[in-house]
Amino acid sequence: MDTKLLFQDAAGFQTPLLAVFAVDIAVGKDAEPLVALLTTSDSVADSAAKVLASGEFKATVGETLLLHGPNGLKTERLVVVGLGKAKGLSVDEVRKGAGTAVRAAKPLGVREMAIAFPEDHALDDEHLETLPCALLSRVLVEGAEVAEKDWDTYRSERKDRSVRSLSVIAKEAEKSTRAEIQEGFDAGVIVAAAQNFARSLVNEPGNVLTPTELGKRAAAMCSEMGLKCEVHSTAKLLELKMGAFAAVAQGSEQPPALIVMTYEPKLGKGEALAKDAPVLGLVGKGITFDTGGISIKPGDGMEKMKYDMAGAAAMIGAMQAIAQLKPRVKVIGVVCSAENMPDGKAYRPGDVVTAMSGKTIEVINTDAEGRLVLADGLHYAKTLGCTHLIDAATLTGACVVALGIVNVGLFSNDEGAWQKFTDATKISGEKFWRLPCTDDYKDQIKSHIADMRNTGANRWGGAISAAMFLKEFVGETPWLHLDIAGCAWHDENKPWIANGPSGVALRSILEWVRGYSD
Ligand code: BES
Ligand code: ZN
Ligand code: ZN
Repeated sequence: MDTKLLFQDAAGFQTPLLAVFAVDIAVGKDAEPLVALLTTSDSVADSAAKVLASGEFKATVGETLLLHGPNGLKTERLVVVGLGKAKGLSVDEVRKGAGTAVRAAKPLGVREMAIAFPEDHALDDEHLETLPCALLSRVLVEGAEVAEKDWDTYRSERKDRSVRSLSVIAKEAEKSTRAEIQEGFDAGVIVAAAQNFARSLVNEPGNVLTPTELGKRAAAMCSEMGLKCEVHSTAKLLELKMGAFAAVAQGSEQPPALIVMTYEPKLGKGEALAKDAPVLGLVGKGITFDTGGISIKPGDGMEKMKYDMAGAAAMIGAMQAIAQLKPRVKVIGVVCSAENMPDGKAYRPGDVVTAMSGKTIEVINTDAEGRLVLADGLHYAKTLGCTHLIDAATLTGACVVALGIVNVGLFSNDEGAWQKFTDATKISGEKFWRLPCTDDYKDQIKSHIADMRNTGANRWGGAISAAMFLKEFVGETPWLHLDIAGCAWHDENKPWIANGPSGVALRSILEWVRGYSD
């Protein structure tokens, strides 16, 4: 989508569709909704006054109201988009609202549209706390761009419902505010493109996106963005003694890919990062298809296991945004990509493999392959000099059972890294819920014959057992583990995002990284 930012009066902007945001300013639990528009334009407010007075539109999140030929406005149509209650309004609702506006345009066949920048100062302070306008601007673009994507690339007869151009219309404001709005807008374009890139990778079927192909796409992105990228395969895995990662890969005709992307901040002449400056390691699970291997999965729903590389996609997308937003911190992305297949050469339950760290693992279940590839990825990232680690993985069904499809499972061995991440989520708007991984759970991964086993001793707390396993490979290094199994793929459409890949965790990881910029 061609997205631009214009400073002018929304009422005078000629467009097929203008979106304006509305909130419910009624107070009290049982009060009837009282709808107010987030605009200081009297013409826009007047044009919708009658229908809003009817009380038919409640301004709930995801709700829209369409008006044709609104009086006194240049736009052909006006769509009023609900953001919910004014009290407690946050940028998350604005992100969803912008998405809802774009997705409301699609069935109308509208190709060009505009969104009136939400003017929170249109309301009295008693209703609404002011939101920082740079952030408002950023989330507006993020929500709109993410909403624009539909996953119809594989249909031979595509119903083209794309919105090709979006104008964000902000009122002539002070110079300083303008600059802030512009800055947020520019960041939003970068972040949204990265998230959509990650989503498009996750959408690809397993026969198209093999580990080799994932490596090619990551390398192409890196060369475009000026990042260093190396893509290795079996020989390098064996040379590095990545016995766990190699074991997972050996059952497939498709060779594995170890993708290493490096971002070094460009500093001014004579400038240098502190000697003890952090180096951040972003490690992604990139199983391009997970059959379960010899411990094969049931057929029902197995087709979805193409999204078992969503953690890798989040890291590759995050690296793209990092290259453009240029934080002053070194970042290394490590993706462990393989296909988990049953075959004559496949690894089997009962096998003992030796990870790169030297630790031995008894394989109980070949479907618990994600932790095996990550074990080597995390250790490798440490050997590359990473001082802080974060991994993202569609790791366990147990995490979906525990947290459903709303919150990502979050695990950490370090309060400082966790705090920084929590701060990051306030900007990203993504939801995480911390689960424990204290040594009380260590018995779960005890093996009778090796240093550890790759599944829990019993069914209970499966997401935690997986985290405990990973923890063995990070040692003392501050580390965050994101189990995105429940949130990386939406089965259902929402008013602000199409069903399919969500691109979850990318924005939070990116913001976490920016939190270390010196
Ligand atoms: N990729 C799956 C986890 C998964 C499940 C992701 C559902 C998305 C949705 C992972 O490799 C896996 O199969 N884990 C097993 C672990 C078990 C064998 C200990 C699981 O969760 O059943
Ligand atoms: Zn599996
Ligand atoms: Zn898996």
